[in-house]
Amino acid sequence: MAKSRNHAEWNAPPPFKADEYVDSRIYSDEGIFEEELEKIFKKAWIPVCHESELAKAYDFRTVTIAREPVILVRGKDMQVRAFLNVCPHRGNMIERRPSGTFLDGSPSGNPRHMTCMFHAWQFDMKGRCVYISRQEEGYQDRLKKSQVGLRELKCEVYFGGFIWVCLDDDIGMDVKEWSAGALECLQPSLDEEPLEIFHYHKAIIPCNYKLWHDTNCEFYHDYLHYHNRITGFNDGYFARKNMGFDNGHINVGSFEVQYDNYEGFDSRAAISFPHLPPNHWYMIDMFPGVNFNLRGSSLRCDLMTPLGPDKVMIEFRGLGLKSDDEATRRHRIEHHNSIWGPFGRNLHEDLLAVTGQGVSMDAQAEPRKILHGRHENETIHDENGMRHFYEEWGRWMNRSPSDPTKPFSEPSKAESKSKEEALA
Ligand code: FES
Ligand SMILES: [Fe+2]
Repeated sequence: MAKSRNHAEWNAPPPFKADEYVDSRIYSDEGIFEEELEKIFKKAWIPVCHESELAKAYDFRTVTIAREPVILVRGKDMQVRAFLNVCPHRGNMIERRPSGTFLDGSPSGNPRHMTCMFHAWQFDMKGRCVYISRQEEGYQDRLKKSQVGLRELKCEVYFGGFIWVCLDDDIGMDVKEWSAGALECLQPSLDEEPLEIFHYHKAIIPCNYKLWHDTNCEFYHDYLHYHNRITGFNDGYFARKNMGFDNGHINVGSFEVQYDNYEGFDSRAAISFPHLPPNHWYMIDMFPGVNFNLRGSSLRCDLMTPLGPDKVMIEFRGLGLKSDDEATRRHRIEHHNSIWGPFGRNLHEDLLAVTGQGVSMDAQAEPRKILHGRHENETIHDENGMRHFYEEWGRWMNRSPSDPTKPFSEPSKAESKSKEEALA
């Protein structure tokens, strides 16, 4: 008979295998958080922004990866390069604005150069040091400009014009290899013609970044979203597959959304992205904290930057086709905002849910078991997406997600085989 549980019963392991639940300390422990920055975020490819955010020569954009300030600049040759936004002289952050242009120079520096405001050293768009103030007087022949260039970072423009940066020179793979096939379902739609960003907002949310990633890669929670239920619970919806790829990535198969079922909403077919069947909807969740979400006419990208075990900055971008005329762009923005804008029918509901999780997983709270145990033939209400993510997390961290005090152990051959069979 169903009953409530006392303290010991509440703390007992659930009736699941170890990969079907996680321990909430992975969402709240300060030491684990610091380890994640070192072992994961400093080693993965991260799509930090979109090429349309620095469209012209000498435009720049500044971002942060795992507490490291990073600057992206577009050179005269139109190539985007990434550097640590740190002066080699005395460690000042060189550029403080979020975006802008170096075309006009700064009060203490020349046009077309990055100038450190502290002692006026200057760098060109290739990261070369081109000016040291009173160089000969102070350094004589002991320091050459060639010895104090900026630190260049691995940088690639890939997948619809996203700019990917990796802090680890030795990652040993390009973005295509890193994505391991997870991006392929949307590549024809995103690479057919240039895209342009039309929406940006960021939110700092009191929860662990993985809880946001979870909510992007599990669909069982569509019970939270009235709009999704009304427009989505058709046969195609329940047949949608979750697919796991190497490196912890996931994608979610498509189906036809019935936008007309919700009052005030319209079909997205007329301004759909290229090659996408009318009103279809794909999602891709990249390890460790990125989401691409294409709902017919507008693309959303979430980028998670962990700020603490219980704090994440999420940057939300909305993108359309660069070729849009004014009316088309307005229509696309309406589609985007009606679901994903701050007053849309979806986004705030997810934010409320993860905030509730964050409150209950405070560092001082007793560790809890978080269940990922649904199996439904890898379809939409299966929780294989989260299990796939946490298996990868365990590998990178060498910690078991269900008991992070223990080292990770690879799933047995029999388990991996049955997974492969289910995916086939
Ligand atoms: S710290 Fe940048 S010039 Fe001195
Ligand atoms: Fe959601």
